[in-house]
Amino acid sequence: MDGGVDVMAVGDFEEVAALWREVGMWPHEGEDRQWWEAALSRNPGCALVWREGGAVVGTVMGAWDGVRGWIYHLAVSPLRRGQGIGSKLLAAVEQRLQAAGVRQINLMVYEGELDSLVGFYSRRGYEPAPVRVMRKRLPALANVRQEARCGGEKCTNQA
Ligand SMILES: CC(C)(COP(=O)(O)OP(=O)(O)OC[C@H]1O[C@@H](n2cnc3c(N)ncnc32)[C@H](O)[C@@H]1OP(=O)(O)O)[C@@H](O)C(=O)NCCC(=O)NCCS
Repeated sequence: MDGGVDVMAVGDFEEVAALWREVGMWPHEGEDRQWWEAALSRNPGCALVWREGGAVVGTVMGAWDGVRGWIYHLAVSPLRRGQGIGSKLLAAVEQRLQAAGVRQINLMVYEGELDSLVGFYSRRGYEPAPVRVMRKRLPALANVRQEARCGGEKCTNQA
């Protein structure tokens, strides 16, 4: 395998969106290109891709909100699964979050995928947390403060 971990760049948008679409992660409510670019700038160096021959075949996005680290959008192209790419992306984003000072990483698994993903994450050191996620949907505002940060700049202190 000639691939490796690389930092996700703004120019990767089309490839990343195509991969997420292929795995059923995208489009997701509220997650458009503007959202994605803002997420990259708030957590510099914490969104990663796996490239093979220059092509994006895997992604993961890490976020540090100042309280917990979060992992989103771990995805590997269906034709490249089972080769360790997902594990390596997960380890790489964990390392970067830890280097930024994160002491606990959370992630969410949709109930429909519990069986396969809880096993995958459990074998990589995660444990089910005794919490139930609740959410409130907010209407989009016309003037969103894109410069608003939640501590993401700490992720620049990466390994
Ligand atoms: C979860 C996911 C990222 C794993 O990526 P991956 O590159 O296949 O990961 P790895 O190769 O490191 O490990 C895959 C695991 O599945 C097993 N596996 C073997 N062949 C496989 C295959 N063809 N497809 C998927 N998994 C396979 C591996 O043995 C390994 O199991 P283990 O936990 O016993 O080691 C990938 O399946 C995926 O993109 N799923 C859809 C998106 C998703 O649900 N993401 C998680 C959001 S919370």
